[in-house]
Amino acid sequence: MKLLKSAIVTAGVLLLSGCADITKDKETVFVEELLKRMTLEEKIGQMNQVNWNGNYSHVKKGMVGSVLNVTNINELIEMQRCAVEESRLGIPVLISRDVIHGYRTMFPIPLGQAATFNPELVEKGARVAAIEASSDGIRWTFAPMVDISRDARWGRIAESCGEDQYLTSVMGDAMVKGFQGDDLSSPTSIAACVKHFVGYGAAEGGRDYNSTGLTENVLRNVYLKPFESACSAGAATYMTSFNDNDGIPASANEFILRSVLRNEWGFDGVVVSDWGSIAEMVPHGFAENRKSAAMKSVNAGVDMEMESRSYIENIAELVNEKKVSERDIDNSVRNILRLKYRLGLFENPYVDPNSNVVYAPDHLQAAKQAATQATILLKNNNRTLPLNEGRIKSVTITGPMAHAKHDQMGTWSFDGEKEKTVTPLEAIGDMLGDKIKIIYEPGLAYSRDNDKTGINKAVKAAQQTDATIVFVGEEAILSGEAHSLSNLDFVGAQSELISALTATGKPVVMVVMAGRPLTIGNEIDKCDAVLYSFHPGTMGGPALADLIFGKAVPSGKTPVTFPKTVGQIPVYYNHNMTGRPANRNETLMCDIPVEAGQTSLGCTSFYLDSGFDPLYPFGYGLSYTTFEYEGVKLNSVNFGKNDIITAVCTIKNTGDYEADEVVQLYTRDLVGSINRPVRELKGFKRVSLKPGESKEVTFELPVSELAFWNRNMQYAVEEGEFHLWISPNSKSGQPVSFRVD
Ligand code: NOJ
Repeated sequence: MKLLKSAIVTAGVLLLSGCADITKDKETVFVEELLKRMTLEEKIGQMNQVNWNGNYSHVKKGMVGSVLNVTNINELIEMQRCAVEESRLGIPVLISRDVIHGYRTMFPIPLGQAATFNPELVEKGARVAAIEASSDGIRWTFAPMVDISRDARWGRIAESCGEDQYLTSVMGDAMVKGFQGDDLSSPTSIAACVKHFVGYGAAEGGRDYNSTGLTENVLRNVYLKPFESACSAGAATYMTSFNDNDGIPASANEFILRSVLRNEWGFDGVVVSDWGSIAEMVPHGFAENRKSAAMKSVNAGVDMEMESRSYIENIAELVNEKKVSERDIDNSVRNILRLKYRLGLFENPYVDPNSNVVYAPDHLQAAKQAATQATILLKNNNRTLPLNEGRIKSVTITGPMAHAKHDQMGTWSFDGEKEKTVTPLEAIGDMLGDKIKIIYEPGLAYSRDNDKTGINKAVKAAQQTDATIVFVGEEAILSGEAHSLSNLDFVGAQSELISALTATGKPVVMVVMAGRPLTIGNEIDKCDAVLYSFHPGTMGGPALADLIFGKAVPSGKTPVTFPKTVGQIPVYYNHNMTGRPANRNETLMCDIPVEAGQTSLGCTSFYLDSGFDPLYPFGYGLSYTTFEYEGVKLNSVNFGKNDIITAVCTIKNTGDYEADEVVQLYTRDLVGSINRPVRELKGFKRVSLKPGESKEVTFELPVSELAFWNRNMQYAVEEGEFHLWISPNSKSGQPVSFRVD
C-alpha cells in the first residue's frame, strides 16, 4: 500500500479538477506508475481470477487479481485486507459474483424483463441489483447476457433478452447503465460484464456449450450487434464464450477480441474468460495442453482467466520462451488496473459491513412492477380475465407453481431467499382471503411430478368453485446453464392436470411460469385464458394477483417467438425470405391424398405437420382492453441517406380498461446485396391510454439505422425500396413504402 499512496493523493486532486482529460491522464499516470513497479509474477497474478477457496496466502503474495463467490462478508473483508495491507503493492482484489436478475430482491429472469419492452424499468432492476450487491462488497457482475437466443431448447434462453438484436441491445444497454450507474467509482456501482462473446446462443441443437457455425455476415448483422451497443453504452468488461465458432474457440479468437472489440469498437476495459473456457480448449482439440491454451488466449487478447489456472501456471514460462510477449501481458494488466482504478477501489477498497439495503420497499415495488409488465396475456376467451371478485364467490388455486417459493425466482438466483418470495397463493389470499372462498389443492407437488393422485382432489375443488386458476410451468432448475431440453412440452403430469380441470366445464385460467417458451398449444386451446410469466421473481405473486383480479392490466409482449413444436426450431420473426415463401395455402399432411404423386411445382417452405406459422409471433401480447391502429403517415416517401424518417400512427384504446400498449416499429429492406430479413424491429414505445383515448405515436428513425453489413462486408445503407410498419406485433399491420436514394 505504501508505494501507492503518493499516486493516490495526486489522483484525488486531479479528480477534483473535474476535467475529463486530466482525469484520464491521471488514470494513465497512475496505471503506468503502478505497472512499472510490478514483477512479472505480480502481473500474472492480476490476470488470475479464482473461485474463493479461503486461500489468503495467495492473496498476500499478489497471485489473485479477482475472486468470485465470496459469500461470507467477514471473509470478504479479511481477504481484501490481505490484498491491500499485506501484499507487496497493496493492489485491491476485484470481487465478483453472478448477479443476473437481482441480488436478494429477485426481478423476473432477463427473458421476462425483456418482455416488458420497458428499458427504464430494466435499468431500475439492474440499479437495485447493484445497490444490494455492492452493499455486500460485490463490485463486478457477470451480466448482462446479450446472446441472441433463437432456440428455446437452450436452457440459457432464460438468461437472455430473446431473439431480436435490437430489443437485446436496448435491454443490454439498460442493464449496463443500471449496474454501472452514472459513475463507476461510486460505491454502489458494479462493473457490468457483457457476455458471452460471441455466438453462444446459436449452439447447435440448442445443446449448451455446443459448437456454432455463424458466418461473418450473421455475426455482424445479428450476434455482435448487442455487444457493440453495450460497448457504446460504456460496458466495463466482456466475457468470452464457451463455444467454438467456425472451429475457433471464443477464448482464442483474436479476430473478435482484437480486430473487432479493441480496434473497431475502441474498447479499453477487461476481457475475462468464462469459467475454465481457456483450459477447455484442450478437450475442444484446439490446444495440446493447458500451457498451449494459455498461450493462445493471451495472444488472442483475453486479459483475465476465470478459474482454470492455466495463466498462473504457465505465463511466466511462456514469456521466457518468447511465446507470449511481455507487451501483451502489460496491456492486459493495464486494462485490469484501469478497471480497478475506475471503480475507485484504490481509494476505497472496503465495503461497510453495516450497510444493509436489501429488500428496501422501493426495490420490492420495482420488482413487482417489472413482474407485472413482464406478464404476457396469450389468450382471453370471452373476457374470462380479469376475474371479478364481485361475480366470483369462490376460486380453486392449483398447480405446482402456485406456491413454488424457490422455483418462482428462476435460474441464477444464488442470493435470492425463498423465504422472501411472495407466491400467487399467498398474494391472492392476502388480497381476497376475506372476500371470497379460496380452495388450494396443488394437484402436483412440483412440475416434474408424475404422481397423479392429487389431480382428483384438484378436480373436486374445481367442481365446487366458480373458477380455477392453475399455475404450471417449469421448476427453475429446468432452464439456465447446462439445462437444455430436447422436448418443450409440459413435464410431469401437468398436461393431465390441465385436461382434467378443463373437463369440469368451469372457467380455467392457466398461468405459466417458465424459463423459456414451451410448446403448449394443446393446453392453451383447452383453457379459457392464459397468462405467461417467465419466472417472475420475488414479487411474482402480488404482480399476478393484481393481473388476475384486474388491479393491473397485462402489457408484456413476447420477446421470442413461441414455437408450435420443437421441430420448428429455430423459428424467429426476422428470418430471410426463401425463394419459395409459404403462402398460407399449404397442403398439410392430413390433406394429402393417399399415393399422391410427387411434384415440386408450387411447393413452398413449410412443415407438413405444423405449417409455417409459430404458436405466437415475436412482439405478441393481448390486453384486457383493445387498441386500434390507424394508417401510418410518413413525412416523405423519398429519403436521402442523411435524412430522418418521421413515422406517425394514431393508436386508440377502444376497450374498457386504462392500459399500456407496446407500439412497435418495423422495417424491411426489399432488395439488398445480400438477402434481408422479412422484418426488423427498429423501435418501440410503451404508451398509456385511457378508455376511448387516442394518441399519436411518433417514431424518428434516422435513415442511417437502415444500414447493415453488406456483401462487401461494409456497413452501409443500400438504396432502394423499403417497407415500414407500426404495429402491435411482428406479424400484423399494413406496411407503407418509401425509397432511399
Ligand atoms: C459460467 C457461465 O457461463 C457464466 O455465464 C458465469 O458468469 C460464470 N460461469 C461464472 O459463474
